[in-house]
Amino acid sequence: MEYSPARPPSPVRSKVFAACVMLSLWVYMLYCCAGYCSTAPGFAAGRVADYLDPPVKTSSRDLLNNENEEWDDARAEDATPPGSVNGTGTESKKLPRAIIIGVKKGGTRALLEFLRVHPDIRAVGAEPHFFDRNYDKGLEWYRDLMPKTLEGQITMEKTPSYFVTKEVPARIYTMSKATKLIVVVRDPVTRAISDYTQTRSKKPDIPSFESLTFKNRTLDLIDTTWSALQIGMYARHLERWLQFFPMEQILFVSGEGLISDPAGEMARVQDFLGLRRVVTQKHFHFNPAKGFPCLKRPEGNSKPHCLGKTKGRTHPNIEARVVQSLRNFYRPYNKKFYRMTGHDFGWDSQPDGE
Ligand SMILES: *[C@@H]1O[C@H](CO)[C@@H](O)[C@H](O)[C@H]1NC(C)=O
Ligand SMILES: *[C@@H]1O[C@H](CO)[C@@H](O)[C@H](O)[C@H]1NC(C)=O
Repeated sequence: MEYSPARPPSPVRSKVFAACVMLSLWVYMLYCCAGYCSTAPGFAAGRVADYLDPPVKTSSRDLLNNENEEWDDARAEDATPPGSVNGTGTESKKLPRAIIIGVKKGGTRALLEFLRVHPDIRAVGAEPHFFDRNYDKGLEWYRDLMPKTLEGQITMEKTPSYFVTKEVPARIYTMSKATKLIVVVRDPVTRAISDYTQTRSKKPDIPSFESLTFKNRTLDLIDTTWSALQIGMYARHLERWLQFFPMEQILFVSGEGLISDPAGEMARVQDFLGLRRVVTQKHFHFNPAKGFPCLKRPEGNSKPHCLGKTKGRTHPNIEARVVQSLRNFYRPYNKKFYRMTGHDFGWDSQPDGE
């Protein structure tokens, strides 16, 4: 009957109770100051991914660039990468210093997973869509999505729709004009087919690729308002970014290169971010049966993650004539893009009809 609700609380008892609460809070604060909070299970401050997931899941999935489902699963286990929390130094959430801004179906998920092997990179797993869809929530909302970092670590996120969204360059510039930008690009024709294939796998009754491609097939008139085609006009999008950022602040990563030479491509990325070259050849092994590289996880106990799990999705058979029309359509945009970036990505020397 000690704690019978009928009995009015004695002043002494509530004072003791208050003291206990204060003491618990004190212990918890000390515990946090010592830096254990973020690693202890059960404390709310812990896993960023846990409270990041709900807002992202409510957004429509069609803009998500899920290159590979297996890697999407992998990100959940990654809330606290190895080697970053030591109890020394103070961790805090910071706005991203580098952002992967595009492009959808270019290989952005692969690049982010490769980068997360680096101990000096901390990245949000899901796509925040802050600068396009959630901008009105404010920078503090955005910062709160970020993982905690120590001094010297780089906070990153990726949202592939940023590259093609008109308002985004000015908004990122407003946050920080020193933000480093990374764009993974890929042959726009293959990208468009891959984009269409992903959409069709969710909505099987969409019109054929051919009928969406042409405004008037007889006139060979391409429908440039179709987003699957618009995204690949890289030169046009890049012009908008160059009104705010100098070329040196934008790195273009070859999506094809991430598959054929991941270590080489990662060397460029790490140099661009001013990082030691930690992610190297030894992190990758090539799976000849699949034709794709696999990432060896340093933890060792988990299975290697391979690119290309969903790339095996059968692409619809696109008529060679349609592919040729698209190659002709993109050629001037590609040429211009090569000139602007000073790099020939080789898309126009590929055989047709892949
Ligand atoms: C973290 O701790 C490990 C082992 O205790 C040590 O080898 C490493 O140098 C520490 N790293 C930092 C950044 O303090
Ligand atoms: C396509 O263009 C041709 C030639 O101008 C015209 O005869 C035809 O009606 C057009 N087709 C469509 C679907 O607009």
